[in-house]
Amino acid sequence: MSSIDVVLGLQWGDEGKGKIVDVLAGRYPVIARFQGGPNAGHSLHFDDKKFVLRSIPSGIFREGSRNLIGNGVVIDPITFKEECENLEKAGVPVKERLFISKKAHFILPTHRILDAANESSMGKGKIGSTLKGIGPAYTDRTGRNGLRVGDSLTDGFRSKFEALKAKHLRLLKQYDFEYNAEENEQKWFEAVDYMKGFKIVNGEYFVNGILENGENILAEGAQGSMLDIDFGSYPFVTSSSTICAGACIGLGASPSKIGDVYGIFKAYCTRVGSGPFPTELFDETGAELQKRGAEFGAVTGRPRRTGWLDLVALKYVVMLSGVTKLIMMKSDVMDTFKTVKAATSYIVNGEETTEVPFDIDAEITPVYTEFKGWNTDLSKAKSEEGLPEEFRNYVRFIEDYLGVPIKIISIGPDRTETIFR
Ligand code: GDP
Ligand code: IMO
Ligand code: MG
Repeated sequence: MSSIDVVLGLQWGDEGKGKIVDVLAGRYPVIARFQGGPNAGHSLHFDDKKFVLRSIPSGIFREGSRNLIGNGVVIDPITFKEECENLEKAGVPVKERLFISKKAHFILPTHRILDAANESSMGKGKIGSTLKGIGPAYTDRTGRNGLRVGDSLTDGFRSKFEALKAKHLRLLKQYDFEYNAEENEQKWFEAVDYMKGFKIVNGEYFVNGILENGENILAEGAQGSMLDIDFGSYPFVTSSSTICAGACIGLGASPSKIGDVYGIFKAYCTRVGSGPFPTELFDETGAELQKRGAEFGAVTGRPRRTGWLDLVALKYVVMLSGVTKLIMMKSDVMDTFKTVKAATSYIVNGEETTEVPFDIDAEITPVYTEFKGWNTDLSKAKSEEGLPEEFRNYVRFIEDYLGVPIKIISIGPDRTETIFR
């Protein structure tokens, strides 16, 4: 029976989803994004080239692939147009390979302004948003005011836009924030016209039609499970459902259609933006992870915070999404470490627990299990057999703790630096 396999980031984003979707895309005729928007930055490396995708699925480089931007995604036409033009310049036939759901929502120029005004009003309590208008666009979706891609094909589009903009201008009055609401408006409408040249479809019929046809779909998550609107470290989260259930809502597919759930994690942790990060390191080891892992945001260029692997948080999200296969990324970043650590429980208010606490202000002291470092250049390994014993120990421990097998180990950014087990 055909199914939708889902790729999810299990941490705070930037786990390497772009690379893995690109690697797996050769096996799937259809690749679909189901949530998030241009807050995402998914990097792909192959043939000595590097690309960063924002709203477009990471299957776009595969010949003959069909790529869907699902209804759960929020689209900024301006960013979308730039992204497509870059791909076209690189010889990728985007218009041939891309489909967009009519029910995906638009990010308006005033959504971005609202995002910035809101963040700047919060001072120290700010989320650390990417300022792409994500929160305000999803707020309008839930508030039943949103503008959808399908609306751009109808006569009343301009007046719907004006009504929503007027609402935003009323909201902006509450902030002491300077802005120019018209600055990007013309560009935005031009980009909407550009989008009309793409295949705009009823995404839910598209997805279910593919499945009925006996073909499989790979669903590409954005952000990470710890940034999920319900289960992440609220309010320091994004505004969409980043766990497996989000794929059903964001594509219009029944839960019974979900096949494998691939959970991607780095061999350590990173977080960009504010919010709790129990295993965060403020020492030289943290700086080393940042340097060796080139941990700077693909979208904003902000340095990513770094820390040891957090198995308590991982176990939590494996539970939430029913992860069936794990994929471990960036192990090579710790090649030079004498010792490697992973948190296996927390001390919260003096008591040891293996659960993620509700209270995000709770003082959490991680309890670590230590591993001997492998001190080997992992990127030289061509297969499982080439991996050092110390490293295999680390892998075995993680599999046992989480109760899920690690099926792929990534040992470098390139498509080819991937070991299948
Ligand atoms: P995404 O948002 O989950 O797609 O991840 P990002 O692209 O934002 O960040 C992951 C970064 O790590 C990118 O720069 C990748 O090129 C890089 N990367 C992916 N896998 C590996 C790996 O196994 N080793 C190393 N050293 N870098 C990797
Ligand atoms: P990918 O798909 C890492 C973080 C932001 C901020 C919070 C809310 O590349 O893994 P938002 O712009 O959504 O309002 O920001 O979420 N964030 C990400 N962090 N990777 C991402 O995407 C992210 N998308 C949002 O830094 O803390
Ligand atoms: Mg990223």
